Amino acid sequence: MSLQLGDTAPDFEQISTEGTIHFYEWSGDSWVVLFSHPADFTPVCTTELGETARLKPEFDRRNVKVIGLSVDALDRHQSWAADIAETQGTAVNFPILADANRKVATLYDLIHPNADTTATVRSVFVIDPHKKVRLTLTYPASTGRNFAEILRVIDSLQLTDAHKVATPVNWKQGEDVIITTAVSDEEALSRFPDGWKTLKPYLRVTKQPEAPELAKR
Ligand code: BEZ
Repeated sequence: MSLQLGDTAPDFEQISTEGTIHFYEWSGDSWVVLFSHPADFTPVCTTELGETARLKPEFDRRNVKVIGLSVDALDRHQSWAADIAETQGTAVNFPILADANRKVATLYDLIHPNADTTATVRSVFVIDPHKKVRLTLTYPASTGRNFAEILRVIDSLQLTDAHKVATPVNWKQGEDVIITTAVSDEEALSRFPDGWKTLKPYLRVTKQPEAPELAKR
């Protein structure tokens, strides 16, 4: 069965472009974005890995480690990395798992046989420091992912954990947020001393509190 939100992300040991990864040890107390791509030397994947490398400072600011995966072998990852640097203008600066034996693909259910019997799908898992799965996404092979959206969700999750707020449709960093229904008006008084606007008892809007990880770095 596929991994669901709130499940514990499976631990694994697998080779990568940065040596053998012991997942729990490698991730430590960071958030993780684990993402799979269908195959090396493919155009959409090439642009995705370049963009992910370019965004490294943004992942670092949020205490997020990024790790890629496909079922290609290590030597293919290594020679493809040169193409990514050449065409995308950024060297790959995160590990890519060489999951040729499908160990991680099986644990994370990354082969969807009705889409492709051998290649991994274009999935994303956001995993929190407690190793819980907090976001899953699966895209078709022909559609490149929006990594700005992945950062946006991480910002939202980190705000929820720190401040018990939720983020409305199309929210962006710095815009107003919603006080979750788990927070009583009494608790809200101490959490949000600048107040809030009550549109409905279940829809209370307040200024975005400080983003916890962004404030630290
Ligand atoms: C790509 O990354 O370009 C791609 C991979 C598999 C199927 C289609 C496109």
